[in-house]
Amino acid sequence: MVRPRMYRLLYWLVLQRLPAEGTHRVSFAMLRALAAVPGVAALLRRLLAPRDPALRVRALGRELPGPLGLAAGFDKDARGVRALLALGFGFVEVGTVTAEAQPGNPRPRLFRLPRDRALVNRLGFNNGGAEAAARRLARPGARGGAEAVVGVNIGKTKRVAEAEALADYAASAGRLAPLADYLVVNVSSPNTPGLRDLQAADKLRPLLAAVRAACDLASPLRRVPLLVKIAPDLADEDVDAVADLAIELGLDGVIATNTTIARTGLATPAAFVERLGAGGLSGAPLKARALAVLRRLRARAGGRLTLIAVGGIETADDAWERIRAGATLVQGYTGFIYGGPGWPRRLQRELAAKVRAAGLASIEQAIGADAQS
Ligand SMILES: Cc1cc2nc3c(=O)[nH]c(=O)nc-3n(C[C@H](O)[C@H](O)[C@H](O)COP(=O)(O)O)c2cc1C
Repeated sequence: MVRPRMYRLLYWLVLQRLPAEGTHRVSFAMLRALAAVPGVAALLRRLLAPRDPALRVRALGRELPGPLGLAAGFDKDARGVRALLALGFGFVEVGTVTAEAQPGNPRPRLFRLPRDRALVNRLGFNNGGAEAAARRLARPGARGGAEAVVGVNIGKTKRVAEAEALADYAASAGRLAPLADYLVVNVSSPNTPGLRDLQAADKLRPLLAAVRAACDLASPLRRVPLLVKIAPDLADEDVDAVADLAIELGLDGVIATNTTIARTGLATPAAFVERLGAGGLSGAPLKARALAVLRRLRARAGGRLTLIAVGGIETADDAWERIRAGATLVQGYTGFIYGGPGWPRRLQRELAAKVRAAGLASIEQAIGADAQS
């Protein structure tokens, strides 16, 4: 196992000097190659997967070994689910997948802000399309076991006009819902023009209804849980409106939040940040707003929605705070990039210690403990 100090050294000496997207591609390919060696994925799982009963969580009709998942965007094409679960994530969300394959924005499009423990990306849903992702997810052994929990996050194909967005999302949902433990409608990426406008209730209502119908048609015997992922840049009243709509439509939950277009409170010099250009900011600077949005959702919805918290989660303290604020599950992306391959195991081991220190037998007892409703 890579120890945190070793990874930090490797990161500061080598990785941070390489282009961010290339580093991601190479390290992910290496992880997959390692996990493909017979016996290695099983061994890693035995060493790294959460096994503490205090961390087990029932959510979205499944039982997860731990509450920390890998957020969408890392494995856009469902290439390495088994390898990622072997690192100890409780679940993995693949995507964003679009109905049609597309290349995304021109490079460079992913940047590190190490002083802020943050990233800026404008990848723009580069992915091989719903058909390719579905084929991969359907392969025997893709998940590494029947107990693996895999969410699928879908978005709009860039070339498709807003008027056709419904059919585009429904096509992805129809193809991928039967292979997903839960499906996420992503209307919050800042990198597809106009996408975030779909968060307005009058547009979101028919979209979510169409995706729900497509899921039910494609998976008539198993109702696939449906969630919507929202931006941290929504006004508070819009957050309330999404919560109301999710309840009205019988959605299962909300994922809060995606990356932000804001650039406030950064230690990185403003001129440098400006030169990077447009994109979504993730990591530590997102922490406060992502937590505020979560609190708002919980206050509005009480326990009627399953809330998945994401945005700036780096430590067990962060995860604990989100769970007590009402999140059933948490996710991270940037924390994993800066924390290295040992991050999911480390965070969840520390989280289990917190559960016990609070005198609880299960982390489920902490969900919403700090919430008013
Ligand atoms: C490089 C990168 C690519 C991402 N791609 C997606 C994506 O395709 N779909 C999505 O819903 N979120 C995507 N996200 C957002 C993350 O899933 C997450 O919501 C966000 O980064 C905040 O969490 P973090 O602070 O732990 O990174 C991406 C984030 C990063 C950094």
